[in-house]
Parts: sequence; C-alpha cells; structure tokens
Amino acid sequence: MAAIRDETPGRDARQTRRVALLNQKGGVGKTTTTVNLAAAIAEQGRPTLIVDIDPQSHATLHLGVDPDGLDRSIYDLLLDPELPATEALIESRPNLGLLPAEVHLAAAETELVGEADRQDRLHRILDRLSDQYEFVFIDCPPSLGILTLNALAASGEVLVPLQAHFFALQGVSKLLETVQLVSQAANPDLVVAGVILCMHEERATLSKEVVADLDEFFHASREGGAPWSDAKVFRPPVRRNIKLAECPSFGQTIFEYSKWCPGALDYRALAKSFIEEWDARKSVKAEEIAQAPEDPRDALEEPTEDTTAEIVVRPSAAAEMTG
Ligand SMILES: Nc1ncnc2c1ncn2[C@@H]1O[C@H](COP(=O)(O)OP(=O)(O)OP(=O)(O)O)[C@@H](O)[C@H]1O
Ligand SMILES: [Mg+2]
Repeated sequence: MAAIRDETPGRDARQTRRVALLNQKGGVGKTTTTVNLAAAIAEQGRPTLIVDIDPQSHATLHLGVDPDGLDRSIYDLLLDPELPATEALIESRPNLGLLPAEVHLAAAETELVGEADRQDRLHRILDRLSDQYEFVFIDCPPSLGILTLNALAASGEVLVPLQAHFFALQGVSKLLETVQLVSQAANPDLVVAGVILCMHEERATLSKEVVADLDEFFHASREGGAPWSDAKVFRPPVRRNIKLAECPSFGQTIFEYSKWCPGALDYRALAKSFIEEWDARKSVKAEEIAQAPEDPRDALEEPTEDTTAEIVVRPSAAAEMTG
C-alpha cells in the first residue's frame, strides 16, 4: 500500500493561494487564463508563480521562453527531488515567476510510475518556494495522468476554464468526480473554486442557458459537503477576443500586447476579484489566529486523540487515477 505522509505544517496553513487550471478537454482556455490571470495579479504587485506542467509547453511559449533552450525545467525538478527548485525558476516579469516545461515532460508520466511519492513531487517543489509567492497557477495538460495528479495534490483549489456550449455541464461533472477522487485519496483540502467562462459569446442564447444551468448546478450543490460546495461561475466571463489568440505568438501577455482590449479588461477584472477574495480569506484567518487561546490546550476540555495525519492512498483509487 502506498502511504504518503504529509510533512508540511498543514496545507491550509499556507499563505499561498495555489490553483490548478483543470479541464481534460483541450483548447478551452486553460493556458490563456493561467498566463493572463497570473500576469494581471503580478501587475498588482503580488508575487505570482506560473507552473507549466503541460508537455505542450504553451504557457512557457506564451511568456516568450523557448522550451528548447532551457537548461532546467519542471521535468528535472519532478524527476530529481534533490534539485533546488530555483535551478529551473525563471523570473519572467516583475513579480511573475515561471517554472517552465519542455517536451521531455511527456516522458515523466512513465518515468515516475515506479516512485511511491509520484503524485506528491510537485507539492514538495512548491513548498520549497512557498515563501516567495503569494499566488501559484498551475497550467495542466488536457489529460488526467500523473502530471495532472501532481497539480491536484499540490493545489488548494481547482479552477475550471470552459466554454459555455451544449456539453459543458456533462464535462464538468466528470471533472468534479476526478477532483473528488483526488481529494478523498491524496489531498483532503482540495476544493473547486469554480468555473471561468472563456471565449464567451455573451449574446448567444445557448451561452445564456448554459451559464444559467451552471449557476443552478453549483447553487444546488451548496449543502452537499462536496469539494465544489463553494464553487461558483466567476464573473465577468472572458469574451472571445482575437487579441487573446494573437498575443502568445509574440511571447507576450495580453497586457503587453494590447493593454486595453476586451480580453485585457476581462482578465484584469477577474484578477481584481481573485485578489479581493484572497485578502478577505486571509483577514478571516488572521482574526481566527488572533482570537485563538495562546496555549491551544486551554481550549480543550478533554484530551483529544492523536491527530498526526497520515494520508493513505487507497490502492484501488491510485490505480484508477494513474491508469
Ligand atoms: N477569450 C478568447 N478569445 C479568443 N481566443 C481565445 C480566447 N481564449 C483562448 N483563446 C484561444 O483559443 C485557443 C485555445 O486556448 P488555450 O490554449 O488557452 O486552451 P487550453 O485549454 O490551454 O488548450 P490545451 O488543452 O491544448 O492546453 C488558443 O489558440 C487561444 O489563443
Ligand atoms: Mg494549454
């Protein structure tokens, strides 16, 4: 049985908002959202890290970094846990770090198979960088293999970029099942933050209907205790905007390429609400800490049992997840 002991002080004690951009469907806006949401947050002076865990290396390319010219990448860090994370880290813009990908990363799926801690490698890499970044965005590949599992085990939240088309809800429920499996097996703190609507056609009747269905679905999940019970459809939706499709080929973020286009405005607005939400959460946590008794034992009426956490990955679940 594979047993993974979490040696960190507690995932929820982290001062970093770690977010995996996840959708097993290709071409929905994961990379576009990772890069431009992260860049907008970094522009607000908040230290932000982009982790490219997709062998296609699209986030790396989007930021103007040539994957073929790298000395080290996220591949090297995943394969060699002794390697300092800073060896692969690129300061790509002010307040914006990048752990880049390159094509060898595809081999990591098979090379990691025999390792007991294969799903927890990224988690450990990010822990070593946690004092440097307030926000971390992980751009997942459009598949549910070991790389994606690493992203989910390393994250506190999942963001789902999608297009509001007819099968959107069907795709979301499959994805939520995966998140639930991972949260039960390896990362109980993992929650779904919500959906970001990409390439959105505001005036289309179908889009309106799908958004209403998504709103209703998340509303109905409020009481269920599932990892998505606090999830929502983020506003504003990101409108379809050709500038967003053009800027990656120049190795530029949307803010460098066309500062005031609709795409830039939408990602800036999303970043603002994302930062505000996080600041509010941090101040609630700070208040809780301030109100806690100095010696936690004072608050206990009876001795409690040993709470040393051991995260056990059920072999059946792990096999299911790693295929
Ligand atoms: N709001 C938008 N308006 C116009 N084009 C967009 C928008 N968002 C993304 N695109 C374009 O759509 C394509 C797919 O987007 P993106 O690469 O972000 O998807 P992805 O989910 O990361 O894809 P993959 O699954 O292959 O990694 C890209 O060419 C991108 O430039
Ligand atoms: Mg992508």
